[in-house]
Amino acid sequence: MDFDESLLPRTRVRDALSSHARPGACLVKGWVRTVRAGKNVAFLAVNDGSCLDSLQAVVDSSLQNYPEIRKVATGACVAVRGELVPSPAKGQAMELQVQQLEILGEADPQYPLQKKRHSFEYLRSIAHLRVRSNTFGAVFRMRSALSFAVHQFFRDRGFLYVHTPIITANDCEGAGEMFRVTILDPRNPPLNDGMIDWSQDFFGERTGLTVSGQLQGEAFATAFSDIYTFGPTFRAENSNTSRHAAEFWMIEPEMAFADLSENCRVAADFLRYLCRFALEECADDLKFFDTRIEKGLIDKLENLADAEFVTLSYTDAVKELQNCGEHFQFPVEWGCDLQSEHERFLTEKIVGGPLFVTDYPQQIKAFYMRSNDDGKTVAAMDCLVPRVGEIIGGSQREERHDVLVKRMIEAGIAPESLGWFLDLRRWGSCPHAGFGLGFERFLMYVTGMSNIRDVIPFPRTTGNAAF
Ligand code: 4AD
Ligand code: MG
Repeated sequence: MDFDESLLPRTRVRDALSSHARPGACLVKGWVRTVRAGKNVAFLAVNDGSCLDSLQAVVDSSLQNYPEIRKVATGACVAVRGELVPSPAKGQAMELQVQQLEILGEADPQYPLQKKRHSFEYLRSIAHLRVRSNTFGAVFRMRSALSFAVHQFFRDRGFLYVHTPIITANDCEGAGEMFRVTILDPRNPPLNDGMIDWSQDFFGERTGLTVSGQLQGEAFATAFSDIYTFGPTFRAENSNTSRHAAEFWMIEPEMAFADLSENCRVAADFLRYLCRFALEECADDLKFFDTRIEKGLIDKLENLADAEFVTLSYTDAVKELQNCGEHFQFPVEWGCDLQSEHERFLTEKIVGGPLFVTDYPQQIKAFYMRSNDDGKTVAAMDCLVPRVGEIIGGSQREERHDVLVKRMIEAGIAPESLGWFLDLRRWGSCPHAGFGLGFERFLMYVTGMSNIRDVIPFPRTTGNAAF
């Protein structure tokens, strides 16, 4: 009855612990992180996910249900009502003198998140519970805050937010990494000349989960000038690395009238903005990452928030790598795709900070990138950062109808299959550019977490779709 929130609204732990908190009646609900219970008094650390810290609930043995309270264990869910008072204990401004405690959900000693530290690997096997730990609390608060920051950045600049489709017939990156979406019977699919007859499938053609919202984004950019998408993307890349997920979130702005250097400018502004936002809005969580996960993280972000980004052409980057004296597993020569070891060497050793690599060879990049006058390279850019490597990929787009058709044919894409995309070059074409920021890659960078599986709520990777 007294836990009725219409009588006393629930306070979030974050507010109870803030410097603006006023002493007085207070109701808090949350999960018990630790318990110290004695004969006369019990201390419960209650966390509700609103901040890293827990509220200390002090329970006096005079409470009627004290014998029951004494048995409350780590992991239980409780409602506590009492007086919020300045705490005599060190390290916390306020504590709660409990007058009433209700156990909403008990926990037995098998609760896996006991006090000892667990490996991230183990915590992945309990992804439904790891969110109740300090590290993952901090990760997902930052993920939420930074999602908001993404929208704020583009909204402040007049970009239209567009929801591009998840099911599509277009393989934007042309890498054949699409997950198929079908309702055909896998044991007995309709055939036509020995090949699966997709015309009999749900959509009447072969479809999959999108690898990028860019193509549809381009249609919107040629109506609204500046647009962005922010949504899930899917890649059936069989690469079991710490930086690849089969389902990840991508932010893709697309800007009419922008060229490659304007594209890089917006990308750099965007990254600086997100870093500054993290420093200002997520200070406590960042402090945690700075002490526990990556020493010097805050300094690194402060530097990035003001950084001038170095730009290096692919051709120059290859020269640097060839002349640096380092032995690479994959030798570098002009025309090869840069491997993660090369990307990291460039950003960590040669530049010592974030950089854009631009103007890649045409044959290693997607069909939609604008051909440069040299006939060999395209107006592409990748943004590389220390530790993570590539976090952004983008380009100026090929806006010339004939050139685009030629590029599609060279890339083995039937122009008819993307007639609508070519239409954008037929009517009212304009120079335009855009990029994609992998949201998880960025989160790895700002939190210092070293595995993509640990910055996404329920990771989908090769061999793993649990939860
Ligand atoms: O470089 P990508 O493939 O570029 C595109 O998809 C373009 N259509 C974007 C555009 O211009 N609108 O992917 C963009 C970014 C990469 O730089 C990387 O950060 C991230 O998406 N990414 C992945 N993140 C996690 N797991 C994967 N398997 C990823 N593949 C790409
Ligand atoms: Mg890329």
